[in-house]
Amino acid sequence: MIAIAILGHGVVGSGVAEILRHNAEGVAAKAGDTLQLKRILDLRAFPDLPYADLFTTDFQEIVQDEEIRIVVETMGGLHPAYDFVKACLEAGKSVVTSNKELVAAKGDELLALARANNLNFLFEASVGGGIPILRPLDQCLAANNVLEIAGILNGTTNFMLTKMIRDNMSFEEALALAQKLGYAERDPSADVGGHDACRKICILASLAFGKHVLPEQVHTEGITEVTLEDVQYAAACGGVIKLIGRAIRTEHGVTCMVAPMILPQDNLLAGVDDVFNGIMVRGDSVGDVAFVGRGAGKLPTASAVVADVIDEAKHLSARKYLFWGPAEAGFVENYRGTAYAMLLRFACASPAEAATRLAQVFGEVRSVTVANGAEGQVAVITPALTADELDTKLAQLGDMTLLRSLRFYN
Ligand code: HSE
Repeated sequence: MIAIAILGHGVVGSGVAEILRHNAEGVAAKAGDTLQLKRILDLRAFPDLPYADLFTTDFQEIVQDEEIRIVVETMGGLHPAYDFVKACLEAGKSVVTSNKELVAAKGDELLALARANNLNFLFEASVGGGIPILRPLDQCLAANNVLEIAGILNGTTNFMLTKMIRDNMSFEEALALAQKLGYAERDPSADVGGHDACRKICILASLAFGKHVLPEQVHTEGITEVTLEDVQYAAACGGVIKLIGRAIRTEHGVTCMVAPMILPQDNLLAGVDDVFNGIMVRGDSVGDVAFVGRGAGKLPTASAVVADVIDEAKHLSARKYLFWGPAEAGFVENYRGTAYAMLLRFACASPAEAATRLAQVFGEVRSVTVANGAEGQVAVITPALTADELDTKLAQLGDMTLLRSLRFYN
């Protein structure tokens, strides 16, 4: 029998307890031993639960319990999760976490600590919820040099964009529904501001490219400024707006960003809607591989956590190889060097004059119109430009007012 503890009985933690209890037989068969849920740390009491006696508010009862070999951290946030996970690894317990904030900020340090103590630190659920992505990236695609990873990495914003596009729902209504369904973070500004997706692309990039990519090194834009008008213009271009996290291998490192982008309808990720996440990995041998599934929610995320628990139970005295090194100065290159074709929308008194001026400055541009579009606007698609090239050209336009700019995923 292997004793387990859970830190945090929120959406994911309660899902882990539910799966461990309801699927105890199947889990034991796969782990090769019975897994006993021994303690759950939470500040709240849950007197009506059949396992109410397992709760404690005292972390010491877990970290000092030598019988507990595996600790599941599903508290979220950096502190005290980091302190608790570190203490568990120092006390000889393997750890599973779904906490992307923790892994994105401290993954290299915690992986090194686990390695030094011959323990495992696994976090499949931290990216893509229930989608298997870290193991496949690390193991099945190991023969490849990864050239690029691009993903719809946040279920809440994908759900919201889908509701806005399909049901004409307002931003606020869509967010409220996502929160009600348990998809959003405790602080949903992490979802809509792109920070949750940023943490996930950091984890993917660190694993794929071997050095820690920190969230503060990644240019991040969210969806708070995306309007129904943007959605209409994207459709007029034959595309769909998605919040994309993207990491591209460069000669000496990686370039990484999170931003809403227009995906052509035939892109592998364009049809990934609702709470689903989609992740495309481009390997130099395999080409493009896509992973799609439920990226948020109680049981999908808990299923990935429990799979890691099973893996750790099977490898109590052996190490899994998942690893990356510390961050290195210069490894993450400035996103501004990557060229994107842009959809630019301007306010103008005379669309014909504006179109002529845009063609003079940008060279070949394609104009875009939408049915029932607002008066006094002109929209064009530019050739691929770096951010610096775009700024230079916009400065040449003088007094034309830029209303909106969106990148095309290319
Ligand atoms: N808030 C996150 C999302 C939860 O919406 O994707 C899963 O990481």
